[in-house]
Amino acid sequence: MTGATGKIAGASDRVVGQPASLRVNDQLAWAAGLLREAGVSSPLVDAQWLLAHVADIDRGRLVILDSVDTEAVTEFGRLVRVRAARYPLQHLVGSAAFRTVELQVGNGVFIPRPETELLAEWAISVAPQGDCLIADFCSGSGALAISLATELPRARLVAVEESLPALMWLKRNVAAQPDSVADRITVVHADVTRGSDVAKWLGASSCDLIVANPPYVPEDTEVEPEVDIDPAEAVFAGVDGMSVIDPMVSVLATVCKAGGQVGIEHDDTTADAVAARLGDGGLFTGIAGHRDLAGRPRFATATRVEG
Ligand SMILES: C[S@@+](CC[C@H](N)C(=O)[O-])C[C@H]1O[C@@H](n2cnc3c(N)ncnc32)[C@H](O)[C@@H]1O
Repeated sequence: MTGATGKIAGASDRVVGQPASLRVNDQLAWAAGLLREAGVSSPLVDAQWLLAHVADIDRGRLVILDSVDTEAVTEFGRLVRVRAARYPLQHLVGSAAFRTVELQVGNGVFIPRPETELLAEWAISVAPQGDCLIADFCSGSGALAISLATELPRARLVAVEESLPALMWLKRNVAAQPDSVADRITVVHADVTRGSDVAKWLGASSCDLIVANPPYVPEDTEVEPEVDIDPAEAVFAGVDGMSVIDPMVSVLATVCKAGGQVGIEHDDTTADAVAARLGDGGLFTGIAGHRDLAGRPRFATATRVEG
Protein backbone atom coordinates (compact mmCIF):
# COMPACT_ATOMS: atom_id res chain seq x y z
CA MET A 1 0.00 0.00 0.00
CA THR A 2 1.38 3.45 -0.84
CA GLY A 3 0.33 6.83 0.51
CA ALA A 4 -0.35 10.06 -1.39
CA THR A 5 3.34 10.84 -1.08
CA GLY A 6 4.11 7.67 -2.99
CA LYS A 7 6.53 6.59 -0.25
CA ILE A 8 6.32 3.40 1.76
CA ALA A 9 7.99 2.10 4.90
CA GLY A 10 10.02 -1.10 4.63
CA ALA A 11 8.01 -4.20 5.60
CA SER A 12 10.69 -5.49 7.95
CA ASP A 13 10.58 -2.27 9.97
CA ARG A 14 6.85 -2.31 10.62
CA VAL A 15 4.83 -4.22 13.17
CA VAL A 16 2.35 -6.79 11.86
CA GLY A 17 -0.71 -5.11 10.36
CA GLN A 18 0.77 -1.62 10.27
CA PRO A 19 0.28 0.05 6.87
CA ALA A 20 3.34 0.88 4.80
CA SER A 21 1.95 4.32 4.00
CA LEU A 22 3.83 7.25 5.48
CA ARG A 23 0.66 9.36 5.50
CA VAL A 24 -0.37 10.68 8.90
CA ASN A 25 -4.05 9.85 8.38
CA ASP A 26 -3.34 6.23 7.39
CA GLN A 27 -1.09 5.65 10.40
CA LEU A 28 -3.56 7.30 12.80
CA ALA A 29 -6.49 5.25 11.46
CA TRP A 30 -4.55 2.01 11.91
CA ALA A 31 -3.32 2.89 15.39
CA ALA A 32 -6.71 4.14 16.62
CA GLY A 33 -8.32 0.89 15.46
CA LEU A 34 -5.73 -1.23 17.24
CA LEU A 35 -5.95 0.79 20.45
CA ARG A 36 -9.77 0.69 20.38
CA GLU A 37 -9.65 -3.11 20.10
CA ALA A 38 -7.28 -3.19 23.07
CA GLY A 39 -9.80 -1.31 25.21
CA VAL A 40 -7.94 2.01 25.37
CA SER A 41 -10.53 4.64 26.28
CA SER A 42 -9.28 7.45 24.00
CA PRO A 43 -7.74 5.57 21.03
CA LEU A 44 -7.48 8.39 18.49
CA VAL A 45 -6.16 10.93 20.98
CA ASP A 46 -3.54 8.45 22.22
CA ALA A 47 -2.54 7.66 18.64
CA GLN A 48 -2.15 11.39 17.95
CA TRP A 49 0.03 11.87 21.06
CA LEU A 50 2.28 8.99 20.03
CA LEU A 51 2.63 10.12 16.43
CA ALA A 52 3.32 13.70 17.49
CA HIS A 53 5.92 12.35 19.92
CA VAL A 54 7.81 10.35 17.29
CA ALA A 55 7.53 13.22 14.79
CA ASP A 56 8.77 15.61 17.52
CA ILE A 57 5.99 18.14 17.02
CA ASP A 58 3.06 19.48 19.09
CA ARG A 59 -0.07 17.32 18.78
CA GLY A 60 -2.01 20.29 17.36
CA ARG A 61 0.39 20.46 14.40
CA LEU A 62 -0.51 16.96 13.19
CA VAL A 63 -3.42 18.44 11.19
CA ILE A 64 -0.99 20.29 8.93
CA LEU A 65 1.37 17.34 8.58
CA ASP A 66 0.74 15.12 5.57
CA SER A 67 3.35 12.43 6.11
CA VAL A 68 6.17 11.33 8.40
CA ASP A 69 9.46 9.61 7.63
CA THR A 70 10.17 5.89 7.69
CA GLU A 71 11.99 5.98 11.03
CA ALA A 72 9.02 7.74 12.63
CA VAL A 73 6.62 5.13 11.24
CA THR A 74 8.78 2.33 12.64
CA GLU A 75 8.99 3.89 16.09
CA PHE A 76 5.29 4.75 15.99
CA GLY A 77 4.40 1.12 15.29
CA ARG A 78 6.49 -0.02 18.23
CA LEU A 79 4.94 2.49 20.63
CA VAL A 80 1.39 1.73 19.47
CA ARG A 81 1.96 -1.98 20.17
CA VAL A 82 3.23 -1.19 23.66
CA ARG A 83 0.28 1.13 24.29
CA ALA A 84 -2.09 -1.59 23.05
CA ALA A 85 -0.63 -3.78 25.81
CA ARG A 86 -2.03 -1.04 28.10
CA TYR A 87 1.27 0.51 29.08
CA PRO A 88 0.47 4.12 30.05
CA LEU A 89 0.64 6.72 27.30
CA GLN A 90 2.40 9.19 29.61
CA HIS A 91 5.28 6.78 30.25
CA LEU A 92 5.72 6.31 26.50
CA VAL A 93 5.91 10.03 25.76
CA GLY A 94 7.69 10.77 29.08
CA SER A 95 5.37 13.51 30.26
CA ALA A 96 1.87 14.36 31.43
CA ALA A 97 -0.06 17.59 31.04
CA PHE A 98 -1.69 19.07 34.15
CA ARG A 99 -3.56 22.35 33.73
CA THR A 100 -0.95 24.72 32.24
CA VAL A 101 2.13 22.68 33.17
CA GLU A 102 3.96 19.72 31.65
CA LEU A 103 5.37 17.17 34.11
CA GLN A 104 7.99 14.53 33.50
CA VAL A 105 6.82 11.10 34.60
CA GLY A 106 8.11 7.53 34.52
CA ASN A 107 8.67 4.52 36.74
CA GLY A 108 8.21 5.23 40.43
CA VAL A 109 5.83 8.16 40.22
CA PHE A 110 2.04 8.46 39.97
CA ILE A 111 0.74 9.85 36.67
CA PRO A 112 -1.32 12.98 37.41
CA ARG A 113 -5.00 12.54 36.49
CA PRO A 114 -7.32 15.08 34.84
CA GLU A 115 -9.83 14.86 37.73
CA THR A 116 -7.22 16.29 40.11
CA GLU A 117 -7.28 19.47 38.03
CA LEU A 118 -10.65 20.14 39.71
CA LEU A 119 -8.97 20.18 43.12
CA ALA A 120 -6.37 22.60 41.74
CA GLU A 121 -9.14 24.78 40.30
CA TRP A 122 -10.90 24.88 43.68
CA ALA A 123 -7.62 25.74 45.45
CA ILE A 124 -6.92 28.59 43.05
CA SER A 125 -10.43 29.94 43.58
CA VAL A 126 -10.12 30.04 47.41
CA ALA A 127 -6.41 30.86 47.87
CA PRO A 128 -5.54 34.27 49.30
CA GLN A 129 -4.53 36.60 46.46
CA GLY A 130 -1.58 38.03 48.39
CA ASP A 131 1.40 36.32 50.04
CA CYS A 132 0.36 32.95 51.44
CA LEU A 133 1.64 29.50 52.36
CA ILE A 134 0.13 26.46 50.66
CA ALA A 135 1.05 22.83 51.32
CA ASP A 136 0.62 19.98 48.84
CA PHE A 137 0.43 16.73 50.82
CA CYS A 138 1.35 13.57 48.86
CA SER A 139 2.83 15.64 46.05
CA GLY A 140 4.01 12.85 43.69
CA SER A 141 5.19 14.45 40.45
CA GLY A 142 4.39 17.87 41.93
CA ALA A 143 1.31 18.39 39.75
CA LEU A 144 -0.66 20.35 42.35
CA ALA A 145 2.28 22.23 43.90
CA ILE A 146 3.70 23.30 40.55
CA SER A 147 0.40 24.31 39.00
CA LEU A 148 -0.59 26.30 42.11
CA ALA A 149 2.80 28.04 42.22
CA THR A 150 2.42 28.82 38.51
CA GLU A 151 -1.10 30.22 38.78
CA LEU A 152 -0.75 31.95 42.17
CA PRO A 153 2.34 34.16 41.73
CA ARG A 154 2.53 35.28 45.38
CA ALA A 155 2.04 31.86 46.98
CA ARG A 156 4.83 29.87 48.60
CA LEU A 157 4.38 26.10 48.26
CA VAL A 158 5.60 23.21 50.37
CA ALA A 159 5.40 19.90 48.48
CA VAL A 160 5.44 16.91 50.86
CA GLU A 161 6.19 13.40 49.59
CA GLU A 162 7.26 10.18 51.31
CA SER A 163 8.42 7.95 48.44
CA LEU A 164 12.07 8.41 47.42
CA PRO A 165 11.51 7.51 43.73
CA ALA A 166 8.59 9.96 43.55
CA LEU A 167 10.72 12.59 45.30
CA MET A 168 13.29 12.28 42.51
CA TRP A 169 10.62 13.09 39.89
CA LEU A 170 9.21 15.87 42.06
CA LYS A 171 12.60 17.57 42.39
CA ARG A 172 13.24 17.16 38.67
CA ASN A 173 9.88 18.74 37.80
CA VAL A 174 10.35 21.65 40.18
CA ALA A 175 13.85 22.26 38.77
CA ALA A 176 12.40 22.35 35.24
CA GLN A 177 10.16 25.33 36.08
CA PRO A 178 11.17 28.95 35.54
CA ASP A 179 13.04 30.38 38.58
CA SER A 180 10.03 32.57 39.37
CA VAL A 181 8.06 29.39 40.08
CA ALA A 182 10.75 26.96 41.30
CA ASP A 183 12.10 29.45 43.86
CA ARG A 184 8.74 29.46 45.65
CA ILE A 185 8.47 25.67 46.04
CA THR A 186 10.10 23.75 48.90
CA VAL A 187 10.28 19.99 48.44
CA VAL A 188 10.03 18.02 51.66
CA HIS A 189 10.59 14.32 52.35
CA ALA A 190 8.06 13.42 55.04
CA ASP A 191 5.19 11.13 55.94
CA VAL A 192 1.94 13.14 56.02
CA THR A 193 0.42 10.76 58.57
CA ARG A 194 3.11 11.62 61.14
CA GLY A 195 2.73 15.01 62.75
CA SER A 196 6.28 14.88 64.12
CA ASP A 197 7.70 14.38 60.58
CA VAL A 198 5.69 17.22 59.06
CA ALA A 199 6.33 19.56 62.02
CA LYS A 200 10.03 19.72 61.05
CA TRP A 201 8.97 21.65 57.95
CA LEU A 202 5.59 23.21 58.65
CA GLY A 203 4.80 25.00 61.90
CA ALA A 204 1.52 24.62 63.75
CA SER A 205 -1.20 26.85 62.23
CA SER A 206 1.17 27.96 59.45
CA CYS A 207 -0.73 27.13 56.25
CA ASP A 208 -3.42 29.20 54.56
CA LEU A 209 -4.41 26.28 52.37
CA ILE A 210 -3.55 22.59 52.05
CA VAL A 211 -4.37 20.31 49.14
CA ALA A 212 -3.96 16.55 49.29
CA ASN A 213 -4.34 13.83 46.71
CA PRO A 214 -3.31 10.87 48.87
CA PRO A 215 -3.52 7.18 47.98
CA TYR A 216 -7.21 6.35 48.50
CA VAL A 217 -8.30 3.31 46.49
CA PRO A 218 -9.64 0.41 48.61
CA GLU A 219 -7.26 -2.55 48.25
CA ASP A 220 -9.68 -5.01 46.66
CA THR A 221 -10.72 -2.60 43.87
CA GLU A 222 -10.20 -3.84 40.31
CA VAL A 223 -8.28 -1.19 38.39
CA GLU A 224 -7.49 -0.56 34.70
CA PRO A 225 -4.24 -2.21 33.51
CA GLU A 226 -2.52 1.19 33.24
CA VAL A 227 -3.02 1.78 36.98
CA ASP A 228 -0.88 -1.30 37.74
CA ILE A 229 2.10 0.68 36.46
CA ASP A 230 1.55 3.41 39.07
CA PRO A 231 3.37 2.63 42.34
CA ALA A 232 0.95 0.68 44.58
CA GLU A 233 1.74 2.96 47.53
CA ALA A 234 0.49 5.92 45.47
CA VAL A 235 -2.86 4.28 44.72
CA PHE A 236 -4.06 1.88 47.42
CA ALA A 237 -4.88 2.75 51.02
CA GLY A 238 -6.02 -0.21 53.09
CA VAL A 239 -9.24 -2.17 52.82
CA ASP A 240 -11.43 0.94 53.07
CA GLY A 241 -9.27 3.45 51.18
CA MET A 242 -8.86 5.53 54.36
CA SER A 243 -5.55 4.32 55.79
CA VAL A 244 -3.71 7.51 54.81
CA ILE A 245 -6.61 10.01 54.97
CA ASP A 246 -7.62 8.99 58.51
CA PRO A 247 -4.32 9.85 60.24
CA MET A 248 -3.53 12.67 57.77
CA VAL A 249 -6.57 14.72 58.86
CA SER A 250 -5.06 15.30 62.34
CA VAL A 251 -1.87 16.57 60.71
CA LEU A 252 -3.89 18.84 58.41
CA ALA A 253 -5.69 20.25 61.45
CA THR A 254 -2.36 20.98 63.15
CA VAL A 255 -0.66 22.85 60.29
CA CYS A 256 -3.75 24.68 58.94
CA LYS A 257 -4.34 28.13 60.40
CA ALA A 258 -7.76 29.17 61.72
CA GLY A 259 -9.89 30.18 58.74
CA GLY A 260 -7.54 28.29 56.41
CA GLN A 261 -8.90 25.64 54.09
CA VAL A 262 -8.13 22.04 53.18
CA GLY A 263 -9.11 20.03 50.10
CA ILE A 264 -8.74 16.23 49.99
CA GLU A 265 -9.27 14.09 46.90
CA HIS A 266 -10.84 10.71 47.71
CA ASP A 267 -12.35 7.56 46.26
CA ASP A 268 -15.92 7.82 45.00
CA THR A 269 -16.94 5.30 47.67
CA THR A 270 -15.52 7.26 50.62
CA ALA A 271 -17.17 10.69 50.40
CA ASP A 272 -19.14 10.09 53.61
CA ALA A 273 -16.17 8.63 55.47
CA VAL A 274 -13.94 11.58 54.55
CA ALA A 275 -16.63 14.11 55.53
CA ALA A 276 -17.15 12.29 58.83
CA ARG A 277 -13.40 12.24 59.52
CA LEU A 278 -13.13 15.98 58.82
CA GLY A 279 -16.03 16.52 61.22
CA ASP A 280 -14.36 14.58 64.08
CA GLY A 281 -13.65 16.72 67.13
CA GLY A 282 -15.09 19.89 65.62
CA LEU A 283 -11.74 21.00 64.16
CA PHE A 284 -13.19 21.81 60.74
CA THR A 285 -16.38 23.50 59.63
CA GLY A 286 -18.06 24.11 56.26
CA ILE A 287 -17.36 20.54 55.17
CA ALA A 288 -18.43 20.20 51.54
CA GLY A 289 -18.32 17.43 48.95
CA HIS A 290 -17.38 18.10 45.31
CA ARG A 291 -18.11 15.93 42.29
CA ASP A 292 -16.03 15.35 39.16
CA LEU A 293 -17.24 15.92 35.59
CA ALA A 294 -18.77 12.43 35.53
CA GLY A 295 -20.81 13.30 38.63
CA ARG A 296 -18.81 11.08 41.00
CA PRO A 297 -17.89 12.35 44.50
CA ARG A 298 -14.22 13.33 44.08
CA PHE A 299 -12.96 15.69 46.78
CA ALA A 300 -13.94 17.20 50.11
CA THR A 301 -13.16 20.67 51.40
CA ALA A 302 -13.35 22.22 54.86
CA THR A 303 -12.33 25.30 56.84
CA ARG A 304 -10.25 25.11 60.03
CA VAL A 305 -12.01 26.58 63.04
CA GLU A 306 -10.30 28.63 65.80
CA GLY A 307 -8.48 26.79 68.55
C1 LIG B 1 -2.38 9.57 44.27
S1 LIG B 1 -0.69 10.02 44.30
C2 LIG B 1 -0.88 11.78 44.02
C3 LIG B 1 0.29 12.46 43.43
C4 LIG B 1 0.04 13.92 43.02
N1 LIG B 1 -0.35 14.73 44.16
C5 LIG B 1 -1.03 14.00 41.96
O1 LIG B 1 -2.11 14.52 42.24
O2 LIG B 1 -0.79 13.56 40.84
C6 LIG B 1 -0.30 9.88 46.01
C7 LIG B 1 1.13 10.22 46.41
O3 LIG B 1 1.24 10.15 47.83
C8 LIG B 1 2.47 9.58 48.19
N2 LIG B 1 2.30 9.05 49.56
C9 LIG B 1 1.70 7.89 49.93
N3 LIG B 1 1.66 7.80 51.27
C10 LIG B 1 2.26 8.92 51.76
C11 LIG B 1 2.54 9.39 53.06
N4 LIG B 1 2.17 8.70 54.15
N5 LIG B 1 3.17 10.59 53.20
C12 LIG B 1 3.54 11.30 52.10
N6 LIG B 1 3.32 10.89 50.83
C13 LIG B 1 2.67 9.71 50.67
C14 LIG B 1 2.71 8.55 47.13
O4 LIG B 1 4.08 8.20 47.05
C15 LIG B 1 2.21 9.30 45.88
O5 LIG B 1 3.24 10.05 45.30
